[in-house]
Amino acid sequence: MTTPSTTSNTSTTSSSTAIALKPQKSSLSTLKGLLPFLAPYKREFLLAGIALLVAAGATLAIPYAFRQMIDLGFGNAGAVVAAGSKNIQNVDFYFLALFGVASILAIATAARFYMVSLLGERVTADIRSAVYRHVITQSPQFFETTQTGEVLSRLTADTTLIQAVVGTSISMALRNALLFVGGLGMLFVTSVKLTAIIVVLLAAVVLPIVFFGRRVRKLSRASQDRIADASAMAGEILNAMPTVQAFTHEAIEGRRFGASVEDAFDTAMQRIRTRTLMTVVAILLVFGAIVFVLWLGAHAVIQGTMSGGELGQFILYAVLVAGSIGALSEVLGEAQRAAGATERLLELLSAHSQVQSPAQPQPLPPRAAVGSALVLKDVSFHYPSRPLTESVSQLTLEIEPGETVAVVGPSGAGKTTLFQLLLRFYDPQQGQITLDGVDIKQLDLQTLRDAIGIVPQDTVIFSANALENIRYGRAGASDDEVIAAAKMAAAHEFIEQLPEGYQSFLGERGVRLSGGQRQRIAIARALLKNPPLLLLDEATSALDAESERLVQKALEAAMIGRTTVIIAHRLATVQRADRIIVMEDGQIVETGTHASLVALGGIYANLAALQFHTLPG
Ligand SMILES: Nc1ncnc2c1ncn2[C@@H]1O[C@H](COP(=O)(O)OP(=O)(O)OP(=O)(O)O)[C@@H](O)[C@H]1O
Ligand SMILES: [Mg+2]
Repeated sequence: MTTPSTTSNTSTTSSSTAIALKPQKSSLSTLKGLLPFLAPYKREFLLAGIALLVAAGATLAIPYAFRQMIDLGFGNAGAVVAAGSKNIQNVDFYFLALFGVASILAIATAARFYMVSLLGERVTADIRSAVYRHVITQSPQFFETTQTGEVLSRLTADTTLIQAVVGTSISMALRNALLFVGGLGMLFVTSVKLTAIIVVLLAAVVLPIVFFGRRVRKLSRASQDRIADASAMAGEILNAMPTVQAFTHEAIEGRRFGASVEDAFDTAMQRIRTRTLMTVVAILLVFGAIVFVLWLGAHAVIQGTMSGGELGQFILYAVLVAGSIGALSEVLGEAQRAAGATERLLELLSAHSQVQSPAQPQPLPPRAAVGSALVLKDVSFHYPSRPLTESVSQLTLEIEPGETVAVVGPSGAGKTTLFQLLLRFYDPQQGQITLDGVDIKQLDLQTLRDAIGIVPQDTVIFSANALENIRYGRAGASDDEVIAAAKMAAAHEFIEQLPEGYQSFLGERGVRLSGGQRQRIAIARALLKNPPLLLLDEATSALDAESERLVQKALEAAMIGRTTVIIAHRLATVQRADRIIVMEDGQIVETGTHASLVALGGIYANLAALQFHTLPG
């Protein structure tokens, strides 16, 4: 006559995981990190707690009501019985009372389930958003060391574990702790001698369960890790399908993934075998103990030292207590897994971006009609992962408002790195960068980046339509403004010819566009932003000569009223710049106009000779 969940607890005794032992306490305490996320929902927790108390009370009352029903209702020889009619009344009353208790139990249990599930979902949603919001403010350095797959798995798998704990385990733990304490108390009240015996027996039952439980827990962690490995591999390969197929690696990748999945399967099977054994052992032990005590009790009833109702009550309480022990051990196992998950999430939350807005940011001076002034003073920088090689070294450069500066130089010279420093994705180890006279470290990151429009070397297209992809440059822009920017970037014609024009979906990562089309979308996006400082990193490298001429013309129009820095390998693109800077090994090695550099007869002249078939000098 126990609640459905209690009966299932008895059976999960078998499948339960470890009981917390001292060395694991420390990991459980990481769950405290969840408190800030639970705090806003005090009211919901209170309601869940009340429902929990009522349900536990009702559960505990059932065996007592059961005994009253047997002893007073049926009135055997040993029981205290009144006259015949009183007997009938008793039966009616106690059956009614029993049903009343069951009704309370039903309502309270449902209320607890509702409140606690709601809390689980709510808290998980909050944690997901908080972690995501935090992660997307991290500097690129964070993403150099953390795989996106890792972040994703923490956001989904780890939060799901926490959801299980908040959503069910906390209430299971509380309920079963109440049932354990209450049930044990009631057992002592019923029969001290039998209780003493059953406590000893249950202790003997718990030990093997603890042993198996710890093993199951280790194995389940291992199998989760294997599954994560497999999905990380699949994620990377699915993102590179064309390359995989071009190199006909389908079979190899299939086998590699298969092996990884088999690995996960083997680990899971190990866990399942241990758990199977544990199920047999636990059920045998638990029921063996109960049957043994029942046998002792039956003797007591025959000898007249105990009533039949008392024995019935005792058995039910014993089942409750045994069930709660099983459930508690399982909950503790879950809690330990969740503690691991919490730790991983808190790690993400505590990741501190190297690049931060200052506490008291300075404003930029009002935007000048001609664009921004940019000064780099003795800037040296090495990537955190390459402490020995400077990618930019003692670079000093002054760019006037409205100037168009081209940066050329061999691959790996540090050109893109220069842009990364201007956007403050990294801070240089030495030197200073100022925008309109303000050190960029003194600017709010948003102020700084709002002032810069960039067309990156690797264009990024989002899985949205053309309109929205361009509007990414300025969230509030009207459709007309978007179309004007597209026209400027020579993107309007090809977008119009897409099946649904500006509404055409461009595919994940823009797979439905050619490389040059993607670039023109990226240029339109940067132009829409209308920034005082425009950075173009190989922005026209994927365009044919004709489109490049068109975009070039558009860009020249766009360069009016702003400062522009262009990185380009094709010198045709940079000829008309006010100034050309030649970089090599992170340093500026030559500066001048196209004509003066050709005349100089250095690196640039050589490049020009190669590209234009003219002789240097
Ligand atoms: N995130 C990074 N971590 C470590 N080293 C990096 C990183 N990004 C670039 N580098 C290194 O810094 C150097 C300069 O790279 P950068 O991307 O600035 O070259 P680039 O001049 O833009 O070359 P390209 O013309 O090929 O685009 C290279 O040696 C490169 O290997
Ligand atoms: Mg580059």
